[in-house]
Amino acid sequence: MKIVSVVGARPQFVKLAPIAKAANAVGVDHVIVHTGQHYDPMLSNVFFDELGIPAPDVHLGVGSGSHGAQTGAMLAALDDVFDAQQPDWVLVYGDTNSTVAAALSAVKMHFSVAHLEAGLRSFNRRMPEEHNRVLTDHAADLLLAPTRVAADHLAAEGLSERTVVVGDVMTDVLYEVRAEVAERPSPLVDELSLAPGDHYVATIHRAENTDDPARLREVVAALSNLDRPVVLLAHPRVVSKASMYGIPLTGGSLIAHAPLAYRDLVAAVLHSAGVITDSGGLQKEAFLLRVPCTTVRTETEWVETVELGWNVLATSAEQVATGVMRRRPDDTGAAPYGDGHAADRVIAELSARPSHRSR
Ligand code: UD1
Repeated sequence: MKIVSVVGARPQFVKLAPIAKAANAVGVDHVIVHTGQHYDPMLSNVFFDELGIPAPDVHLGVGSGSHGAQTGAMLAALDDVFDAQQPDWVLVYGDTNSTVAAALSAVKMHFSVAHLEAGLRSFNRRMPEEHNRVLTDHAADLLLAPTRVAADHLAAEGLSERTVVVGDVMTDVLYEVRAEVAERPSPLVDELSLAPGDHYVATIHRAENTDDPARLREVVAALSNLDRPVVLLAHPRVVSKASMYGIPLTGGSLIAHAPLAYRDLVAAVLHSAGVITDSGGLQKEAFLLRVPCTTVRTETEWVETVELGWNVLATSAEQVATGVMRRRPDDTGAAPYGDGHAADRVIAELSARPSHRSR
């Protein structure tokens, strides 16, 4: 059996790591296609190196652009790749432009498509990711849902027959890395001479927080006025918008820092007082590490983190301050994101099902 994984953005490389390992363990032919959506070494190469992911077999080098230009360039290039590879399954990850491009190219060429992290919904139709998810779920042949809630969303859209709950593959990686970094000090804490457990880790990159100067100014002001140092692991999008609008990213409690490699990120979060983010993955990672999270958005796809008290939504400066200073949530043994073996289940599901090519 041949699986072609298509990835392009940072969180997809994290999800790819356990899949590549699980595929290798059972001798499945696994081909990795990198669209080039993320090209900065700290958003791309570093994940392949440190998570032991084989180098991409195909690199499309698409780079940045408007949604249409970026997605369209990938779509055109992927037709040739799938034609040459003749995969049994095309595996697409999450909700990025790389995901929707690969799903669309593959279904039109009659290759079977499996969507990993299917069924997540923000119900916010202003997010590009929401369109990417919905379109990919409705195009795909097999919907690999991370949670029960995700499977319920798919059922509500008439897609339950194509759905299987496998758990969350990011949990697989996180559990492995947590065990490695738990006993060691955080390199970020050492580098910035912070007191352990006395800083917040922040990431901000969503268009709704970065692209409007008034909104970005408000978010930066909120982070600059907190009660502890806030290390902003600054994604290229926020760096470029802040410089365009003349908004300094260091000042008051706020310290801008380059993005971190995965192990260093996990260590920085584990040894922090809290996380402030608009990232999807980081909300869940904070929960799995039992670090309180404040999410700078009006909604979240990972509703379990909010229901269990480990995540709160906050948009104004006041809500962010109240969120980070809230009482530590009650401990919980809940495991809505699975047992750390989701990737094995994904490979087993793909191996067990006939693809269009084998029929
Ligand atoms: C993308 C995903 C988002 C995901 C995020 C993870 C879409 C629509 N969005 O958002 O869901 O949470 O990745 O990081 O697919 N840039 C660089 N270097 C890079 C990559 C981007 O400088 O390596 C800059 C470019 O100016 C680019 C901007 O960042 O225009 C935005 O990058 P893009 O890949 O379009 O979206 P992200 O914001 O990273």
